[in-house]
Amino acid sequence: MQIFRTKEELREFIGAIKKQGQTIGFVPTMGALHQGHLSLIEASENKADISVASIFVNPAQFNDKNDFTRYPRTEEQDIHLLKIHNTDAVFIPDTQQMYGNDLDLLPFDFKGLDKRYEGAQRPGHFQGVVTIVDKLFRLVEPDFVFMGEKDFQQLAIVTLLAQTSFPTIEIIGCPTLREANGLAMSSRNMLLSESEREQAAIIYATLAEIKENWKKAQTEQFIEQAERKLNAFPLTLEYFVIADALTLEPLSGYTEKRVVALAAVRLGKIRLIDNLRLN
Ligand code: PAF
Repeated sequence: MQIFRTKEELREFIGAIKKQGQTIGFVPTMGALHQGHLSLIEASENKADISVASIFVNPAQFNDKNDFTRYPRTEEQDIHLLKIHNTDAVFIPDTQQMYGNDLDLLPFDFKGLDKRYEGAQRPGHFQGVVTIVDKLFRLVEPDFVFMGEKDFQQLAIVTLLAQTSFPTIEIIGCPTLREANGLAMSSRNMLLSESEREQAAIIYATLAEIKENWKKAQTEQFIEQAERKLNAFPLTLEYFVIADALTLEPLSGYTEKRVVALAAVRLGKIRLIDNLRLN
């Protein structure tokens, strides 16, 4: 596996791949890799000739400085995992490489997709995400990009970014991998204590219960039930919604549209998000 730390090295590598007419699959990450990331690498290897990952904890997408400082960094282990999963190359830039001296943000029309949920709870977060993803797409020039469905709203926004600015890139959403107790795999899980990890199982349990009963009652009743259930635990519920899976507009009442339940909670100092398609 080749490791690049500068844009120049990466560009040279990408140029050579393009000359050979090979396709590139790309998995952008912030490191602290887990099975979920590795499943994205596997999906890339199955589809593209060459698989490239990136590891960069992007300061522009953290509205909370402590969250940025606390974010797990496990570079040596990440490199090892990528190597044993036969990744062809990894790009590990520093902030100077990606931003120079200013965290200038990309102006982008989110078409309302950033208004709610993560966008409302973390002001500026998606602006930071599209800024770095745009820079990475320009450098890696991927044919396919593999991203987890766990970050459902991010996936919708990156898909919009690709449609708007990178029409040749196909964004491929991949299923969320879960721990044995249902907790969605996330780099942030490393920061949970053993008991918090156990408590966090209630998030998926609540989503799964909604999925099972979704057609039987009104959306409002479900949301109330879910909120009651989650609030009985020592966690802070930020949002629990049932939304149109395409527009992310909250829904009331039953619908034949594609529907997703989205949740965010705080457990101690750690913020966790999860979602489940209901149909
Ligand atoms: O999902 C992530 O890990 C990040 O938001 C991403 C897409 C790598 C951009 O920094």
